[in-house]
Amino acid sequence: MDKPQKKPGEPFFITTPIYYVNARPHIGHAYTTIVCDAIARRQRMLGKDVLFLTGTDEHGQKIERSASAAGTTPQKFADQVSSTFRALWDQMGISYDRFIRTTDPVHQRGVQALFKAIQDKGFIYKGKYTGQYCVFDELYVDAVGPGAPCPECGRPTETVSEENYYFKLSAFADKLLAYIDENPDFIRPETRRNEVVAFIKSGLRDLSVSRSSFKWGIPVPGGPKHVIYVWMDALSNYITAIGYGSPDAKDQQRYERFWPGTHMIGKEIVRFHCVYWPAFLLAAELPLPKAIVAHGWLLFEESKMSKSRGNIVRAETISEVLGNDALRYFLMREIVFGQDGSFSFDALVQRYNADLANDLGNLASRTLTMIGKYFNSQVPYPSKSMSHTKSDDVIVKLAGEVITTYGKLFDDYQFSRALESASSLVGAVNKYIVENEPWAVAEKQDEESRARLGTILYTSAEALRIVTALVHPVLPDSTKKIWKQLGLGDIANVDLRDLKWGGLPVGNKLGPIEGVFPRADKSAIERMQKMEEQNAPAAVGAEEKPKEIPAGTGAQAGQPATQAAGGATTSTVAAPASANNQITIDDFTKVELRVGQVKTAEKVKNADKLLKLEVDIGTEIRQIVAGIAEVYPPENLIGRKVVIVANLAPRKLRGIESQGMIVAASLADGKPVLASFLEEVPVGARLK
Ligand code: MSP
Repeated sequence: MDKPQKKPGEPFFITTPIYYVNARPHIGHAYTTIVCDAIARRQRMLGKDVLFLTGTDEHGQKIERSASAAGTTPQKFADQVSSTFRALWDQMGISYDRFIRTTDPVHQRGVQALFKAIQDKGFIYKGKYTGQYCVFDELYVDAVGPGAPCPECGRPTETVSEENYYFKLSAFADKLLAYIDENPDFIRPETRRNEVVAFIKSGLRDLSVSRSSFKWGIPVPGGPKHVIYVWMDALSNYITAIGYGSPDAKDQQRYERFWPGTHMIGKEIVRFHCVYWPAFLLAAELPLPKAIVAHGWLLFEESKMSKSRGNIVRAETISEVLGNDALRYFLMREIVFGQDGSFSFDALVQRYNADLANDLGNLASRTLTMIGKYFNSQVPYPSKSMSHTKSDDVIVKLAGEVITTYGKLFDDYQFSRALESASSLVGAVNKYIVENEPWAVAEKQDEESRARLGTILYTSAEALRIVTALVHPVLPDSTKKIWKQLGLGDIANVDLRDLKWGGLPVGNKLGPIEGVFPRADKSAIERMQKMEEQNAPAAVGAEEKPKEIPAGTGAQAGQPATQAAGGATTSTVAAPASANNQITIDDFTKVELRVGQVKTAEKVKNADKLLKLEVDIGTEIRQIVAGIAEVYPPENLIGRKVVIVANLAPRKLRGIESQGMIVAASLADGKPVLASFLEEVPVGARLK
């Protein structure tokens, strides 16, 4: 994480939704997280004391059911998926300051404190709820009749009949309407604000805030048969994570300092954030959020990207092939914030090549290379009197305008337009370079030409410095490199309030020059598509009928343990090779054995012995189904190095494609023991 070392400025608190742990992260989750990260980084560069919060939402019936389907406990299930989210944000360089899990004891204590505060003010009462409930959205639904479709997602609702605790939501309609009216920036954009107003005006009914027919949640204080409604639990994270409900004075101070904050969310959870959450806070007499900002959906092939639609794209794939900045740039430049936007690999690569590899990358490399070549890598002097032309002034003026426009647009959540204005400066400087032909000026050695050359290159490098500082929050990795090449130290320490023309010191020694945005070609698209295909869930209905699976080996139905192919291969203690089944070295080298590292592991539904693993083999991530579940709990395998048969033809096991197999010894009782190494081995190393 790049953090400037400055005295704490004004507090600035920004949050992502906390993500459900029933699905692995995809670029829809990454979108919200990246936007918040870019905002947090910009605010830090504006001198603010930033607290950026993200985390995972782990309670409720949906998670309880997902865990049971995976054959594990909700806690273990949550531990595993939560760590996948956190690991991805770390890998992507997300600069969060706090990662909250709703299973954290401090959160549980805080939620109970909030529940109690609302109860003490007289806004919670006991009642009976009989009606429909959508487990997918964790939403009480007004629909009538068993199986009636959920108005949000269309899935059949379930009939619930429970003794519950109710929250007097109806008491807050007028207060909410008045607050929204007096604070036009409370809900953004305006379309969402209008929807919320219409929803409140249509009448608010009291809300059940506990469940009593399952256990996976935070117990109601003084009502241990009930768990607190998962949305009340989840929304409270925004204050429990910063210290609400803690007896510790330091936590209290942190809460006082940072609350209220700004919530960034997707448009489907507006009602929870703009109606329920403010009503809970009003009831407890706590300040309301500063703002709730809702963005649109990321679509893939025309529909919302989501696990249940099976059309997800993982951020890891894009990071691996094009780097973290490519995805960040695409999401913030290509999608008009607030509206739905489509993702495709073609559009991603096109945007990357056009704006980054060609425009910004080209400006950086040609400017820095020429300063290297003609001025011995020292920033030249821009002569004001000699050989000065109008074209220089145009760039200076434009840079000043872009600093203002970019900031205004960015801080108004118009990221795409902000980046467009940064691009306009890059484009203008590239054109300026072409028109001024510094390479031709460099051929003349007279004093005037040298002065002209210095001015052209200073102007280009200074414009590059300004653009680089502005877009740093969006492109942290690559701008850091450009900054170093400009010889300017740590970019995260730049104070954007001081950014103005002329900050590049004359005589500054440039750092070593390297390409920052290598051009991507067709093969990059193919690689990403292939990686995603290998990760796609197996097609429904393509199930192979599983026959007896040999204990501890895997997964290859109907084959003896010694030759098990597909899941885990084993060398057996029972049947060593005899002389007549010897193989030649050529035969052996046909088998490509490689060191792999387990990235994720989960149980296969209805198959006690099978685990589905994602294994990094150095060049790609493979999905492998292995018959090792009885010996290895999935969470123990994450990060473990294993031996993979990498060139085995893919096979389907229980409808899931296995792209290789894991090597294990098979003990006399049939139990597998994974092959491993005593020394450190790099991922992808070949065994021969
Ligand atoms: N757990 C709740 C949120 C509780 S917050 C107190 C939840 N979780 S979620 O895992 O379903 O995440 C939803 C959020 O993820 C969306 O609001 C949005 O921020 C992000 N997105 C998930 N899929 C997305 C798209 N396809 N497009 C854009 N954002 C997406 O709801």
